[in-house]
Amino acid sequence: MKIGIDKIGFYIPHLYVDMNKLAVSRNVEPEKFTIGIGQEKMAVPPITQDPVTLAANAALEILDEKDKKEIDFVIFGTESGIDSSKSAAVYVHDLLDINPYARAIEVKQACYGTTAGIQMAKGHIALNPESKVLVLGSDIARYGLNTSGEATQGAGAVALVISANPSILELEDQSVYFTTDIMDFWRPIYSDKAFVDGKLSNEQYIAFFSKVWEQYKTKTGLELKDFEAICYHLPYTKMGLKALRTVLDEGTEDVKDRLMENYKISARYNRNVGNIYTGSLYLSFLSLLARKEDLDADSRIGLFSYGSGAVGEFFTGLLQADYREHLHVENHIKLFSARKEITVAEYEEIFQETLPTDGSTIELDIDNDPATICLAGMADNKRQYVNKTK
Ligand code: HMG
Repeated sequence: MKIGIDKIGFYIPHLYVDMNKLAVSRNVEPEKFTIGIGQEKMAVPPITQDPVTLAANAALEILDEKDKKEIDFVIFGTESGIDSSKSAAVYVHDLLDINPYARAIEVKQACYGTTAGIQMAKGHIALNPESKVLVLGSDIARYGLNTSGEATQGAGAVALVISANPSILELEDQSVYFTTDIMDFWRPIYSDKAFVDGKLSNEQYIAFFSKVWEQYKTKTGLELKDFEAICYHLPYTKMGLKALRTVLDEGTEDVKDRLMENYKISARYNRNVGNIYTGSLYLSFLSLLARKEDLDADSRIGLFSYGSGAVGEFFTGLLQADYREHLHVENHIKLFSARKEITVAEYEEIFQETLPTDGSTIELDIDNDPATICLAGMADNKRQYVNKTK
């Protein structure tokens, strides 16, 4: 039985900062951010968007009434969850009116959470071929104003439906995963910003890619030439490029050119959004599928997932015939073109806004947020969510 990605969508907040302007205000040469880091625009979430609303808006784009009845498992990957106890999946389940006879859980391992969710979903479908699983990956990446990580912030969510006989990508069974305890990036529960050892994180990302890639080739007998494209977790777009470059010499000039061209296409959405942590790999995969028009059915796509701390996985899938008809590319274009640029000063103000932590009531202005699902306020330590269509 084929199991894989039947639907995929994403959501990004409607505000962004231009990286050239951020560089100027930080006394950095703009090329450091646009070439050295490889980012053009950084998504900025208004206070009316949090990981729950970003994910719910991403899922809203792809789910129809039939999906809502057939989904019996909602898995929410995040490392910026809003509650240490209740899962973000339960809120999304309610906001989207999903079948009540469903499981709803949150999964955490830095940027690896969504991949863990997808593999868990695959096992669930193998046992329950009639069901569908909604996997969400949603995060707000925060390092702080004027930090070296600032240029690699971002916000957004992806939503995937995993099912039997998928329309987009059949997940192949062979995969390689690897775990080691390292402190390259972490966020203690008392902090709303991540701590990072930037240099170590870059080194470990490459080291993990090398370990899982070598082991994958040994296990499967496959080689670089067997891949149409390799998509990467993209904390910033230069990072995936550096990893890809470590293996390019394994291919002929044709293979190198193909993988390099497809890499650039796969990084396009991420260049304009920034790091969305656990959704980043899937935003990149979606960018490839949406922006490259001539990928053949049965093309093999490699996916490298990395979550600091750290867990890495290399796995693969085969594109399904007519996958493009299931992508909603026109919605992607609308989402990007409807965004509004804000100044660095406006971004700094938004960055410092906080929700009350003393139980007091606050009402937020959701009229200025074009998203369908918003955070409308807080009362009694409870977040008040609104689906404007309900
Ligand atoms: P930095 O120290 O500000 O930058 O931090 P740098 O000095 O290393 O420069 C960056 C690049 O810009 C270099 O290129 C420079 O040469 C170049 P590289 O040597 O890397 O190829 N550069 C220029 N290029 C063109 N024109 C110029 C110019 N000036 C310099 N004028 C760093 C950069 C990424 C470390 C920092 O932003 C950071 O710490 N970010 C957060 C950590 C991160 O994203 N790590 C990535 C791997 S870990 C990961 O992916 C997991 C993660 O997503 C979290 C999770 O799993 O949950 C982060």
